[in-house]
Amino acid sequence: MLVAAIGIKATASDAGEATVTPVQARGWTLPEDAATKQNPLKPDEKTVADGKAVFKDKCQRCHGPGGLGDGPDADPDAAGDMDLTNPKRAERNPDGVVFYKVLNGRGRPKMPAFKDELSEQQIWSVVTYVQTLRKKG
Ligand code: HEC
Repeated sequence: MLVAAIGIKATASDAGEATVTPVQARGWTLPEDAATKQNPLKPDEKTVADGKAVFKDKCQRCHGPGGLGDGPDADPDAAGDMDLTNPKRAERNPDGVVFYKVLNGRGRPKMPAFKDELSEQQIWSVVTYVQTLRKKG
């Protein structure tokens, strides 16, 4: 319940601020240029397939097979924030932001940092895959 309350507060203050600031306030570690950092990979079939394999291996246990936030290790208090298909979240999650979220992870609710487990190329491929899960809103 506490988590939900914080989430609502952060969202309410999003309105008048630059894109990067509220994301940092939400517990992620993102550099200034996160939102504009370009994905170096082509979003072709191979990249998406590579990303899907990384997702199954590293992300699915929490985020669930379809990215709905319903994996066996999901944090039930953060289910909404773990839903990678929510179209309302597309705007604040361009490729560069998702890249740094995966690279650096976060504290509570916990998502591990993957910088020691995955290469940058693997992270960009899983970023590309994750963006295909987003429902069109
Ligand atoms: C131990 C569980 C766990 C694992 C493993 C995990 N995540 Fe997460 N992830 C979370 C939690 C919890 C949140 C929600 C944090 C919050 O409250 O904002 C989250 C949030 C996210 C978000 C941000 C969603 C948004 O709208 O802001 C992205 C993107 C993401 N995860 C991608 C991934 C990817 C890609 C992987 C695999 C490389 C992964 N996660 C692995 C727990 C996990």
